[in-house]
Amino acid sequence: MCGIIGVVQKRGDVAPFLHQALKRLEYRGYDSVGVTTISEGKLYMKKEKGKIEEVHRKLNLDDMPGSIGIGHTRWATHGIPSMLNSHPHFDCNNEISVVHNGVIDNFLELRTELRALGHKLKSETDTEVIPHLIEDYMKDGMDLLQAVKETTKRIEGTYAIVVMSTKENPNRIVCTRDGNPLVIGRKENVSYVSSDIPAFLPMTNDMILLLDGEIASLSTDEVRIEKLSDESEVKRESIKISWTADQAQKSGYPHFMLKEIHEQPEAIRNTLRLRDDVIKEAANIIHSSERVFMLAMGTSGHAAQAGQHMFASIAGVLPIVELASDFSDTVYGTLTEKDCIIAITQSGETTDTISAVKYAKEFGVKIVAITNVVGSSITRYADYTVLTQAGPEIGVAATKTFMVQLTSLALLALKIGELTKFVKPSIIKAKREFLERMPDIVSETISRNEELARRLAGQMYDKPSLLFLGRGISIATAEEGALKLKEIAYNHAEAYSAGESKHGPIALVQEGYPVIFVAPHDETRSRMIGNIMEMKARGGYTISVILKDDKELTGLSDYVFTIPNQVEAEFSTMAFIVPLQLFSYYMALRKGFDPDKPRNLAKSVTVL
Ligand code: F6R
Repeated sequence: MCGIIGVVQKRGDVAPFLHQALKRLEYRGYDSVGVTTISEGKLYMKKEKGKIEEVHRKLNLDDMPGSIGIGHTRWATHGIPSMLNSHPHFDCNNEISVVHNGVIDNFLELRTELRALGHKLKSETDTEVIPHLIEDYMKDGMDLLQAVKETTKRIEGTYAIVVMSTKENPNRIVCTRDGNPLVIGRKENVSYVSSDIPAFLPMTNDMILLLDGEIASLSTDEVRIEKLSDESEVKRESIKISWTADQAQKSGYPHFMLKEIHEQPEAIRNTLRLRDDVIKEAANIIHSSERVFMLAMGTSGHAAQAGQHMFASIAGVLPIVELASDFSDTVYGTLTEKDCIIAITQSGETTDTISAVKYAKEFGVKIVAITNVVGSSITRYADYTVLTQAGPEIGVAATKTFMVQLTSLALLALKIGELTKFVKPSIIKAKREFLERMPDIVSETISRNEELARRLAGQMYDKPSLLFLGRGISIATAEEGALKLKEIAYNHAEAYSAGESKHGPIALVQEGYPVIFVAPHDETRSRMIGNIMEMKARGGYTISVILKDDKELTGLSDYVFTIPNQVEAEFSTMAFIVPLQLFSYYMALRKGFDPDKPRNLAKSVTVL
């Protein structure tokens, strides 16, 4: 939530780069945007509410002098989206400029204190106390680095902060973090800092991690990192990121979401190439634990639900799936060091998931993380990390990262199955071989359903409400389908177990009410037929996602999406979700919404 960028270079104006970098970070928040640069000791600022391109058309974000600058794209927490609440924020003399991602919990008392000292604070934000605190420390004679260090002793909460000041010569940027991400990029004569790698990916893929409790000073020549606790220097090598700049471009697609749906076969293929010992190590931790929890939020939570079925049917292990946000309120301190958590988070930064993991670690619980982002916060709390290989996902609605979460859970289930011997080795072998075919199945599923999804969206876009039904593992698929539709097309969509549907939701169904069935050819199919009949009998408009040759269900449904091949039951979500992703995408488009930037949402949710 909120995207931050900072750059300091030897020569040339940084403003056009900041503008482009912010566009690459826009998925983190897009209700307002702002940039400051420094040239010849003078600070230049442009900020306004609105999406980046709207603001750019109004203010021309490229036209600012200076070879050092910082920028911010906001997802509002404290204060409505407005010019005054937009970042950067400043001290009384407009000499210190700050961008922040996170929440300062004690900002009210700090604001009262600063106002009593005569500071003029203009916004409703929590962030604005930071430049004013720094101002006071600099007035006492400290340089920027020292003043930021002192400021971190005063603020409570979570933060990633990037700061610059006209008083620093030569130019430098100071940044620090506690609980929110910051990564540093380096190339000759230029240093970058950002909330996420894609921001500077076209310039460099040499990345240096900054960890919680560390502070960095960035100049054109070097990056120096210190620990805040004892000011000792941290020597950290840079990491080469395998992501490419192209992966973070739309590459001819109208939206990132569509591009990322189409990238799913490749993402599965790359994740299937994960080294066997990586999966084995994680599987050993899980296998040697007494209880296994799967914790996640949103789409990752649906991967966990599907993963539960994979683990149970392939490995004979039934994980307890919980929302990370409610975990500590559910387990009531029953955790022990014999338990293990599989924490699933594509961004690796979701505060709900990280808080649950931190809570569990107090009881000695072992943590296996599944994440898509190298060096993300979750990797530091995990005993072991499985790094999925989707490449950068920019669309706010998760698609390909969901697919690779499912892929890695499938790999884990198979590996644990080898240890538990719950099913015969020949079955494990056959399922593993089948998994290798999933990229082709997903690819064909995309091509055979894309036009159908667009057409169905043309019929359904004005339906106020849709019901998604599944059984067994397909409840996870139905839930993910409903979530996608809600988040990008804003139709009310509800997912239910088809079994449960007649215990209440069926009351909603009347002539023309759309009911979407996820009905793979597995042991639930005959019961799904009964549910389809029930809904048809009440006038429901039935849309089914089924196997291509399922003539019976084709005959029973008003509209069908089809999957080209029979899919192993445990992996069905990987294929059956695809038409529903496409349907949501085309629904959003038909309604004139930007599927990449759904209202009120951000890709990485770093508030509780
Ligand atoms: C939905 C979506 C969100 C995320 C959720 C968890 O399309 O993207 O529901 O799945 O915010 O995010 P991660 O996986 O980063 O923990």
